[in-house]
This record gives sequence, structure tokens and C-alpha cells, in this order.
Amino acid sequence: MNAAVRAVTRAAIYNGIAVKAIYRGYKGLIDDEIKDFHTEDVSNIIQQGGTILKTGRSDEFKTAEGREKAYNNMQKHAIDALIVIGGDGTFTGAREFAQEYNMPVIGVPGTIDNDLWGTDSTIGYDTALNTIIEAVDKIRDTASSHERLFFIEVMGRDAGFLALNSALASGAEAVIIPERETDEDQLEELIKNGFRKSKNSSIVIVAESKVTGGANGLAERMRKDHPEFDPRVTILGHIQRGGSPTAYDRIIASRMGVAAIDALLDEQRNIMIGIVNGEIVHVPFTKAIKDDKPIKQEKLDIIRILSI
Ligand code: F6P
Repeated sequence: MNAAVRAVTRAAIYNGIAVKAIYRGYKGLIDDEIKDFHTEDVSNIIQQGGTILKTGRSDEFKTAEGREKAYNNMQKHAIDALIVIGGDGTFTGAREFAQEYNMPVIGVPGTIDNDLWGTDSTIGYDTALNTIIEAVDKIRDTASSHERLFFIEVMGRDAGFLALNSALASGAEAVIIPERETDEDQLEELIKNGFRKSKNSSIVIVAESKVTGGANGLAERMRKDHPEFDPRVTILGHIQRGGSPTAYDRIIASRMGVAAIDALLDEQRNIMIGIVNGEIVHVPFTKAIKDDKPIKQEKLDIIRILSI
């Protein structure tokens, strides 16, 4: 996200537009945490994880009164367009606000979940994916030395993109995602065969979600039905949300930030900047939020084929 903040700030200044930074998202807009930003305010941040602007969830912005306070603060600071970085919740608020106050708002997708329709990637997703793979590689050492079964839970809220792609990239034996029904018999069979044939360890990547029951739920069921496996569970948690961003994330964040300013100069409004097949695209907020981003069945098939 810092790479995007840097790109928005510098592209705006380059084009003669003054920049105000809003701290803590919509909460800061309501509480008037707004500051002039200059090129030096975004120096040396492209390599830092997190966001220098801080972040926060705001229930108040969900109310008409909250949005009115936000609008009044924008008027006070002579802000006439807004660029927001975030996911589903951020864009839902943005769309509402833009309609209510006829305000140009441009969204930049920033979430490790990669669950926004209309963009191949969201900022932070690639970094999180690489963090997961590094962790799974390390867990594999114990799994194979002790000849054990591991259930590793990854984030994603209700989306299985982190789980699916980390499973593919780490050579996991199976993946459980909320977008597909879990056939537990099939999973057990796969793990048993894996052990019986050539493998001495099994790693199952489990997407966090109420649908999948998470890694603990699955391990418990497995222990009950197959005590011979004695599985171990690792929940990767917030380690997935930090650290220095990958080159890919820095590049898309920089491109999207500049594209957001270009879009404003083109008098575009109420769109999310996306990236599809390497090219910048504009996606209406409604579509980005509402439409379901499909999971590639091909990738699930590949995991199954390659885990024999
Ligand atoms: O939406 C991003 C995300 O990291 C999800 O993958 C995860 O479920 C959630 O946020 C965690 O949120 P919090 O930090 O509030 O626990």
C-alpha cells in the first residue's frame, strides 16, 4: 500500500494537483486527520510493509451522519476528489459516498485476499502468497522428517485464492477452499494414498472460513476418524499481512497509483483501477464488489494431478 500512496502522491504533484493525506481511512476523514502531503512525505516507503497512513474500520462512515461529517471535512480542506485504497468494505463505502455527494472517487485495490472482480491481482496478494510459500517450505522439513500430516491455515476471508495458489506453488498434497465443497472421503483417500505410495509427508492448505471449518476443525475430524495420522496444525495468521513487498506488488501498486491520477484527470469517477493481462483497466465499483471472481478449476486439477 505504501508504494501506491507514494505513486498517487507523486503522480498528482507531477500533474500540478495538491495532495492531502487522510490518516486511518474513513475514520480519519470523519475525525479530520488530514494533512498536506509533499513529495518528501513519501520518500523511502516503497519497500515498507503496512501503510504509513495507518488504517481502520469505521462504523460511523456506514451512517449518513458519519458521511456528512466526512464531506464537511473535505469541503474544509478544499478536497474535490478522493482516492481510496482497500477492498470490498472500502469500495462499498466509496460508492455510497460518491453517489450521495456527487464526488469523484477512484479506488485502488489493496487486499491480500485478491477477492475483487475485474482485476487479476490486488496489492499485497503477491507478497502474502510468497510469505505463505516460505512458511510452508519450512514446515515441509518437519513434515517429511517426522513423516507427518500438516493442516496449514491461510487467510483470505471468504475467498480461496491465497490457499489455492499457495498450495499449487508449495507442492501441497491437497487444498480446501470455501468455493468448493470439501469431499472429506476424497481428502482422506488422497492423504492415505500419498503416504502409502511414494510420500512420507502430507501438507493440506486450508483456507480460513466458516465453510471449510478451518484447519483445526479438519484436523479434529481426522484425528477422530484416523488416529494413525496424528496431524499437526499451523495457523499462519497475521504474518501473512506484513513484510517488505515483492517486486510484483511494488510494480502494480506504482502503476495503479499513477493510473488513479490519470483517471481523475480524464474525468473518470467511481471506478476501481484493475490490472488484467498486464494492462490497466477501469472497473465500476458495483462490479468489483458484487461480482464473484471465479476460481480456476484448472489449478485445482493440477494440484490433484501433481500430488500423486
Ligand atoms: O481481508 C484481509 C484479511 O487479512 C483477511 O484475510 C482476514 O480474514 C482479515 O483481514 C483479518 O482481519 P483482522 O486483522 O481484523 O483480524
